[in-house]
Amino acid sequence: MPFAHITGWGMYVPEPVLTNDDIAKLVDTNDEWIRDRTGIRERHIAREHEFPSTLAVEASIKALRVANLAPTELDLIICASSSPEYIFPATACLIQDQIGATKAGAFDLSAACTGFVYAINMAAQAIRSGSIKNALVIGTETLSRFVDWKDRNTCILFGDGAGAFVLQASEKPGGVLSAVMRSDGSGADSLTLLGGGSRHPASEATIHEGKHFVQMDGKEVFRFATRVMGRATLEALELAGMTTDDVKCIVPHQANYRIIETAAKYLKLSMDKFVVNVDRYGNTSTASIPIATVEAAQDGRVMPGDKVVFVAFGAGLTWGAMVVEWTGPIPTKKHVHPEQYRIIARLRSFVRRAIRFIEGFLSRKEL
Ligand code: ACO
Repeated sequence: MPFAHITGWGMYVPEPVLTNDDIAKLVDTNDEWIRDRTGIRERHIAREHEFPSTLAVEASIKALRVANLAPTELDLIICASSSPEYIFPATACLIQDQIGATKAGAFDLSAACTGFVYAINMAAQAIRSGSIKNALVIGTETLSRFVDWKDRNTCILFGDGAGAFVLQASEKPGGVLSAVMRSDGSGADSLTLLGGGSRHPASEATIHEGKHFVQMDGKEVFRFATRVMGRATLEALELAGMTTDDVKCIVPHQANYRIIETAAKYLKLSMDKFVVNVDRYGNTSTASIPIATVEAAQDGRVMPGDKVVFVAFGAGLTWGAMVVEWTGPIPTKKHVHPEQYRIIARLRSFVRRAIRFIEGFLSRKEL
């Protein structure tokens, strides 16, 4: 049975930075309160022309470059997002078109901030079963579009960004070693974005009632998160036959520094064992684990052979954890330039749209 290795990684955040002082101009808050209660100093916010797919494409091209893999070799793209571009089509399909992954199936996965852990596990299972060889897994967000910038309970928390991993099959042992995925829908009300779905389709009333914004019972989510993070980590480690001593570092979902501190206390670990960058990005939901991991890999904190835990929680409620052995690119003589495929992809997409238009025009004439 092949193993599912993480062979490429990339991240992208939009340039504009919103500091706590900037937010203090919008709502009654201040830098000290936000830093004390969350650990967040600043976050990146997408510009008008940036969307989950455009952020994801940047991160994906970087991940493919590290893996030295052509987009045309991808069999599957899974995009986890809490702020997808549309209900449908899937953001994953928009990414597929823009990077030129001509042979890949593509779908979105909705499990809020746990989405990236779920998606890695789904891609790894597909590889382990032998049905696919190469997968691209993305977490991408522009949650700033769904935040009520008049609500100080939520607007201080979220940031925009994207991260991507390439997963590849190899007979060499390693890669994704274990995973736990959990949910508890009885807590669905704690963290919601109710408007725009089929229960509350967009209307003047839904807009008036603020249903198109993130609504959150912060205390409840905090309690839930601190309950599940440590437990899920231990479950995933047990499945892999390991303890925290075997692990180089833990990359937790970056929602709040205090939540990570509580998990560290539960696991009797020092904070040094945790990769934390919530101070610079805020909560980027599905993108937070890949962004933190990419930074750790770039800093040399995560090296080939290291065992790493990813652990996340989010709306749903959902939570999950996994243990991976970090791999890195599979050695090969070829040298791939994924960005070149992107240029060809743009041309291909344009030609396909043109052909579709002409065909549609001719078939209407025939009728
Ligand atoms: N600035 C200043 N004061 C504030 C702010 C603010 N931004 N927000 C709330 N306050 C006030 C409250 O009104 C309250 O005042 P009161 O005592 O007079 O009523 C006081 O500060 C304390 O408020 P709490 O809500 O008790 O503050 P808490 O310490 O719980 O921190 C926070 C709030 C940061 C939201 C915390 O509960 C938290 O991080 N929860 C988890 C949120 C989270 O992780 N969400 C993402 C989940 S992942 C996903 O799926 C998207």
